[in-house]
Amino acid sequence: MSIVIAIDGPAAAGKGTLAKRLAEKYDLAKLDTGLLYRAVGFKVISHGGDPEDPKEAEATARALDPDELTNEALRTDAAAQAASKVSAIPGVRAALLDFQRNFAAHPPPLDDGTPAQGAVLDGRDIGTTVCPQAHVKIFINARTEVRAKRRFKELQYRGHKAIYARVLEDMMERDARDSGRSASPLAAADDACILDTSALDADQAFAKAVEFMSTKNLF
Ligand code: DC
Repeated sequence: MSIVIAIDGPAAAGKGTLAKRLAEKYDLAKLDTGLLYRAVGFKVISHGGDPEDPKEAEATARALDPDELTNEALRTDAAAQAASKVSAIPGVRAALLDFQRNFAAHPPPLDDGTPAQGAVLDGRDIGTTVCPQAHVKIFINARTEVRAKRRFKELQYRGHKAIYARVLEDMMERDARDSGRSASPLAAADDACILDTSALDADQAFAKAVEFMSTKNLF
């Protein structure tokens, strides 16, 4: 049986770090689904297009090549904003759904070539829409200012120019759009474990998630 773990939450809540650590601990393949939307949004704006134009965004999503997910430019705030815009378009979400579900059902082998025991996917709607049957669902959150500070530090660390006030403003705009859209909005599944990381570091958040995982008797 392939174990599926769904991690959802707003930007910079700690989804990526937690997903990586759970993947390492339980031998799971990992998919950062935000990268799919970033790749679509970034491609549209790179061609001078409008990320809110459904026709162009959907065509870009349908033609997406998973090899395009490693571009460092996808980490920028411009890519994040474009991702948030294209992700509100139902046709874009539909175009990316099969890829995500297929990854969960047939996870690729681990980097060392051994078979994965399952998959961990992080995003906004994994527990609610992409994998509603996931064995474990975690909704990770933190106060907006805490998340903006984390994102600001991350951007600086990666060598991108950043102004804190702008990062905070962008994050609030993105949160509102991701939660307010009608197509698969950011939301916690009813059966998700809610993890607030405002006062937790990455080790503490990981420990809480492992504790929750152990209640499920999956491994
Ligand atoms: O997780 P992230 O910051 O890389 O995501 C970028 C944007 O992509 C986010 O603002 C909303 C969208 N997204 C989504 O709508 N559904 C997902 N499963 C993942 C991301």
